Amino acid sequence: MAVITLTSASGSPGVTTTAVGLALSWARRTILLDADPTGGSSILAGYLRGQMVPPDALVELVVAQQQGRLRSTIPTVTMPLPESQVSLIPGPRAHHQAHGLTGLWDHLLAALKDLAPTGQDTIIDLGRLGLSGSAMPLLYGSDLALVVCRSDLVSLSGARSWVSTLRSEFEQLGAANALGVLLVGPGNPYAADEVSKVLGVPVTAALDWDPRAAAAFSAGASARKLSTSPLVRSLRGAAGVITRTVEANRAHLVGDATPEAS
Ligand SMILES: Nc1ncnc2c1ncn2[C@@H]1O[C@H](COP(=O)(O)OP(=O)(O)OP(=O)(O)O)[C@@H](O)[C@H]1O
Ligand SMILES: [Mg+2]
Repeated sequence: MAVITLTSASGSPGVTTTAVGLALSWARRTILLDADPTGGSSILAGYLRGQMVPPDALVELVVAQQQGRLRSTIPTVTMPLPESQVSLIPGPRAHHQAHGLTGLWDHLLAALKDLAPTGQDTIIDLGRLGLSGSAMPLLYGSDLALVVCRSDLVSLSGARSWVSTLRSEFEQLGAANALGVLLVGPGNPYAADEVSKVLGVPVTAALDWDPRAAAAFSAGASARKLSTSPLVRSLRGAAGVITRTVEANRAHLVGDATPEAS
């Protein structure tokens, strides 16, 4: 189906938590790509509690790409998340590694898109916008790019200028529909329609405010009845909405490309 990228403008609104939760709630096999240039993989340290030794995945992928064997190398550098159909590509080990990866992103994106027909989708944690070494080609080339933000004034005010810039850029790319907002904790205090109006981009999906369940995804905390928690229910709903949005965008593109019957 698709490559979906999550990013944020400021604060820590929940990009990593949402990326992990969404991947685990996805209906199909999923690759979870940590592309946060901050380094130090927050998924390995958080959700996996530092208990698994990662491969130097992105460096291996750079070398593989240079040697023309990128696609065949991807499965060898992924780490299966326990009891799931999610495979993790761990992020840069340190912030200074991110600069060496700039030539990789376009090729990796193309390779990940090629996996879609095999029943695998990709969810990307891009980290915060504006960081040195940000993997912007992944954002611009995604089937859906979602700016994660909370519904309070500080978060909205931080997101406003970034979303406005991205909206212009996506319009220029002819991909205005591929940009959306993912709202964490609607109603604290602003509702989704108010957020859409302020940011000028639709709120594609919203996730319930649920610190207990969120800690399971962000810090590997044990949580009883996680599968029936408000966050996991809303993650399942979000996964469905995101899937339908990507399908609708695709149908729209096909419609645009089809010559009118005379
Ligand atoms: N839906 C939610 N409800 C309540 N708390 C949440 C929710 N989503 C995330 N959080 C909490 O917010 C905090 C920050 O989350 P997270 O690390 O995912 O943010 P981030 O945007 O990836 O931050 P950074 O930019 O630093 O990488 C964590 O403590 C996490 O448990
Ligand atoms: Mg993060």
